[in-house]
Amino acid sequence: MLYHDVLIVGGGLAGLRAAVALCDVYDVGLFSKVHPIRSHSIAAQGGINAALANNPDSRDDTPEKHAFDTIKGSDYLADQDAVRIMCGEAPAIVYEMEHWGCPFSRFPDNTIAQRPFGGAGYPRTCFSADLTGHVLLNTLYERSIHKQVRVYPEFVALALVTDGNVCHGAVMLDQVRGEIVPVAAKATLFATGGYGQVYYYSTNALTNTGSGIGIPYKAGIPLKDMEFVQFHPTSLIGTNILMTEGCRGEGGYLLNNKGERFMEKYAPKAMELAPRDIVSRSIQTEIEEGRAFDHELGKYVNLDLRHLGGKKIMERLPGIRRICLDFIGIDPIRDPIPIMPAQHYSMGGIDTNVKAETAVKGFYAAGECACVSVHGANRLGGNSLLDTIVFGKLGSMAIDQYLQGSASKPDERLLAARKREVEEKVKAMAGGGTERPFSILKDLRVTMSRYAGIFRTGDELNHALGVILKLKERYRKVGISSPKLSMNYELIGALELESMLDVSHVIILGALAREESRGAHWRRDFPERRDADWLKHTVATLGKYGEPRINYSDVVISGYTPVERKY
Ligand code: FUM
Repeated sequence: MLYHDVLIVGGGLAGLRAAVALCDVYDVGLFSKVHPIRSHSIAAQGGINAALANNPDSRDDTPEKHAFDTIKGSDYLADQDAVRIMCGEAPAIVYEMEHWGCPFSRFPDNTIAQRPFGGAGYPRTCFSADLTGHVLLNTLYERSIHKQVRVYPEFVALALVTDGNVCHGAVMLDQVRGEIVPVAAKATLFATGGYGQVYYYSTNALTNTGSGIGIPYKAGIPLKDMEFVQFHPTSLIGTNILMTEGCRGEGGYLLNNKGERFMEKYAPKAMELAPRDIVSRSIQTEIEEGRAFDHELGKYVNLDLRHLGGKKIMERLPGIRRICLDFIGIDPIRDPIPIMPAQHYSMGGIDTNVKAETAVKGFYAAGECACVSVHGANRLGGNSLLDTIVFGKLGSMAIDQYLQGSASKPDERLLAARKREVEEKVKAMAGGGTERPFSILKDLRVTMSRYAGIFRTGDELNHALGVILKLKERYRKVGISSPKLSMNYELIGALELESMLDVSHVIILGALAREESRGAHWRRDFPERRDADWLKHTVATLGKYGEPRINYSDVVISGYTPVERKY
């Protein structure tokens, strides 16, 4: 058994930010499924929002205006007090990262450069070309080395250990040594990212299975607003690699097969810089109405950067050009980029407050796996990097307070018992079983993309629900070919699949119940937002028979009365 004051699961921005804040005073262990600088935070390209007012067009920008844009973008489902806290922290967070060495792009006056992003009233997205997540992650990782944070790479979380009221740590799989290891901790923070891999078309890394959401759910922690799934408008056809919103922020156009800038019809003022839910629906409508191009791997529209010129593309979007050259052999300086929408982000997640606290004492969550809620029904681009660092920091402060106060010694017997249960499970899987995990996973991902996508209907969601229930049945018979614990991806896939099925079940049920259209959740059979009935958060807990039980909680409205969104 390993012991730490603080167990952090996840080596991305939220986990690293919490670790560097706590490690001077506490014994911190940071466990990560991959090496921290391979965490999915690295894939964020376009930027991080903060009302610095550096751009000549944003001189009168303020954190309050940032908060308003975020609340409007969320289709009024975000908790307004929480949004104000995140946007208020933003300038200090960006300057802190700058002082820690983050190489942001610069304006000629040497201030941090800011570009326009979707749904924002001002150009307030700070960036480093199109590698913003990369530079932020490397900056925080270097700081963690400087502060000698104890990192355990290649450890996969298998179970969270609680007694119902208090968290005692987690059971991890050490992939390198091939051991199941209980980790006892007074405080545990999950910063495990999103669940994109439950979808077939996703910009997310293969590591983003959502097991960090499914594991706490299994342990009785509520999940919030899981039906709100973000689809990024522009992923590269055939690969679904992210083509950053920065492409449109720098002036890129979206064109259909008639050469029309079709966003004119859907968001005449904001055009390509409308929020993501609106742009994704617009592209999907163009596809469905026959104004898209055909590709062997799907239908697409064009993201055209050619008019920006080679110099700007090389300076501001060099990674995008490289990806296009390497993956599909086109050069955006000369050719339009074929794109389609793909799952990108989870607005929902582990139900937390602004201190990253959950329903169980000593268990915290921050970053994409958590739902505070600051993004409501639709997140604005550039607010996710911000969310990770802000709530990594605020979570660390809450953990510090907890450790100075009422934290108790973890119960080793509970941890040991949970370890034995996991061992039994692995043994049972290795003992045969007629179902292979990859086959169930494929059916799950296809079902989620087809029936719980950009547009939804009650019939389709009901169909998806039936499929999920059948897949859960099949999962009972899942088997793996080797019981080996070291670097056994089949085993990890089989274990994580349980969470993926649970997470998908919650998404589907929440979406089925929510008979309205709000933000990224669009019901063709209920195309209006219905505040009278649905201005509320969905809260799902695990029922007695493994089914999600759905309840609702209030949205905090403090200043901005919900009105219709217009862009
Ligand atoms: O488009 C992007 O660069 C993604 C940014 C984000 O998800 O915030």
